[in-house]
Amino acid sequence: MTQTLDVVFLGPPGAGKGTQASGFAECHGVPHVSTGDLFREHLKNETPVGLMAKEFMDRGGLVPDDVVCQMVRERLEESDADRGAVLDGFPRTVPQAEVLAGDLERMERALRAVVHFSIQDQLLVERLAGRLTCRGCGAVFHRKSNPPRVEGICDPCGGDLYTRDDDGEETVRSRLQTYRDATAPLLGWYEKQGLICEIDADRSIDAVRTALEKAVEGR
Ligand code: AP5
Repeated sequence: MTQTLDVVFLGPPGAGKGTQASGFAECHGVPHVSTGDLFREHLKNETPVGLMAKEFMDRGGLVPDDVVCQMVRERLEESDADRGAVLDGFPRTVPQAEVLAGDLERMERALRAVVHFSIQDQLLVERLAGRLTCRGCGAVFHRKSNPPRVEGICDPCGGDLYTRDDDGEETVRSRLQTYRDATAPLLGWYEKQGLICEIDADRSIDAVRTALEKAVEGR
């Protein structure tokens, strides 16, 4: 078995997975693999995968497992993921988790940890309602809790900030329900394998970051 840093960030929409994943991945020298970002990139390029995914994303549902799993498999086979990857928003169903386990096993790898971002629903709604995302690099801000230095402009790359189509109230409600129905069962599944690290995500970005490092350290 090769010793890699393959970590899953699991939690409801708006819990802060993406905010933490990019810095954590950079610091540990592995790529940040966000299935949501990959679909948005496909959509920007108007690929068949992107156009198909849009239908599910707009409704707050899940893109079919086989499409997501194939996309992640190809991403993990890229050379920058040789030492591991931070999987943000994947897997989201037990069948996806089973496919991931098989793919990693074939690559003689295994998950190091599954970090669960735990947070109350009310905070999620506030976080998503104020979220701003960069069209260029995908960096994430918040109007109140994490504003950009210059309004409407991304700090790292100078790109335009926008509100995601799926951050409207109705779609957010449906994304939360999808999380409860399809993704929350993964907690018990991974718990049985001793992989879950709990993080209280209802703290400042810096405090969550510190807790994250501690949780993964020594695993
Ligand atoms: P995706 O893009 O993955 O969305 P998500 O999982 O719903 O997660 P979010 O990106 O909304 O939230 P986050 O936890 O990353 O929070 P963030 O850091 O941005 O997926 C989109 C869609 O793609 C899905 O609905 C589905 O249709 C499809 N899809 C994706 N993966 C799939 C899969 N595996 N299978 C099938 N379909 C799939 O933070 C949110 C806000 O809070 C920001 O404004 C941020 O600044 C702020 N914030 C973050 N941390 C803090 C903090 N500690 N304190 C205060 N504010 C904070």
